[in-house]
Amino acid sequence: MDCFEINGGPRLRGTVNISGSKNAALPILAATILCEGETVLHRVPDLADVRQMTHLLEKLGLSVERTGPGTLRIRVEDEMNCHAEYKEVSKMRASVCVMGPLLAKRKQAQVAMPGGCSIGDRPVDLHIQGMTALGADFELTNGDMLLKAKKLKGAEIFLGGAFGSTVTGTANVMMAAVLADGRTIIESAACEPEIVDLSEFLNKCGANIKGYGTPRITIEGTGSLTGCEHTILPDRIEAGTFAIAAAITNGDLSLKCARLEHMLAVVDRLRKIGVIIERAEDGVAVSSARRLEPIDITTQPYPGFPTDLQAQVMALLCLADGNSVLCEKVFPDRFLHVAELNRMGARLRKEGPTVIVQGVKRLVGAPVMASDLRASAGLVLAGLVARGRTVVRRAYHIDRGYERIEEKLSAVGADVRRVDEEL
Ligand code: EPZ
Repeated sequence: MDCFEINGGPRLRGTVNISGSKNAALPILAATILCEGETVLHRVPDLADVRQMTHLLEKLGLSVERTGPGTLRIRVEDEMNCHAEYKEVSKMRASVCVMGPLLAKRKQAQVAMPGGCSIGDRPVDLHIQGMTALGADFELTNGDMLLKAKKLKGAEIFLGGAFGSTVTGTANVMMAAVLADGRTIIESAACEPEIVDLSEFLNKCGANIKGYGTPRITIEGTGSLTGCEHTILPDRIEAGTFAIAAAITNGDLSLKCARLEHMLAVVDRLRKIGVIIERAEDGVAVSSARRLEPIDITTQPYPGFPTDLQAQVMALLCLADGNSVLCEKVFPDRFLHVAELNRMGARLRKEGPTVIVQGVKRLVGAPVMASDLRASAGLVLAGLVARGRTVVRRAYHIDRGYERIEEKLSAVGADVRRVDEEL
């Protein structure tokens, strides 16, 4: 079982190439189910989750060919199978994104209801609300969501839940609505850059979507979509992770391809902590050479501070000069990294959806356990600065969302390597 072995200390310096966004690539891959002809996607990250999605697409009758670094050629060959089975969906929750395209293009979808995961409950009630609003019949049978519709009809849909908008819910409803009869309005839509990228992809395929990137998206249904060529946008969460890596090691990194305009909440918080982060010629430049100021951070849907960077910024705030407060408003249980960071000498106290971070002088290396993708990233960042050796077990979690992270970190000076098992 893969572990990362990290010896803390080196200041990171140099250039990191930011990969294409996992959370843009996954719904766009699902959207190819809608298309006639061939789709060519560039800058698709080589990640476990992407491989899982391409495997699912192949089971759903699509051919997927990797024709070069980051390039996939995709075509629908057979539309018989409309079943995304539990063994696929349980491995990766984003598989639920095939629901809308299957229903729109093949008039039916049978998708296993995703269970919970280590970041908490992962309901899909808003996805189902959107599909039934468009006229689909729904039933739950043997743990599968079964949806059928001879022809979807445009509707006005409010997609806000108790925790705000839903990213994959917005993606799913949009992908169902693009082939529906008439106009669909999605109110309280997710505004994430990944939704913008999906919308731009769909419009290049012949869809008619307006208002994306705002809470109100309007979709005029069209007869069919034709595959196109598209380049996936850079991963703002990977960029944020490496920005925090520069900050926590008092280093100096250039994040190639990163887009500052997609990270403004993160930039705001990091600057207030004392990190220097600026737009650079072909990306973002981050450096830090001073003690870090404590700060309060609340995670929110975009454009708020992303929940996917909560564990990483918590690791950074462990070393701030005072007490910080981190409040998790999107996934209130997303704190499995807290106990592991405390094993490294952090002083964290969880109070419901909030963690009080008492700054300490230093962290100390220890064997720790990764629990989910972003928690693993937080533990790796802590290991970069902890005194001595840290071993992060279950490194496979991090491979779901970061392309060869240990190579990217080593290339800028980190003392990190992947080992088969804890030595
Ligand atoms: C997407 O997940 C991302 N995944 C997550 O990134 C990210 O943490 C999340 O959005 C929030 O930004 C992908 O894009 C593949 P949501 P998603 O639906 O769409 C509640 C990572 O590490 N909700 O926006 O599943 C839900 O419980 C992953 O890359 C409902 O109540 O998240 C949560 O509290 C982790 N009913 C909130 O909404 C629903 O039907 C936001 O969830 C759907 C969601």
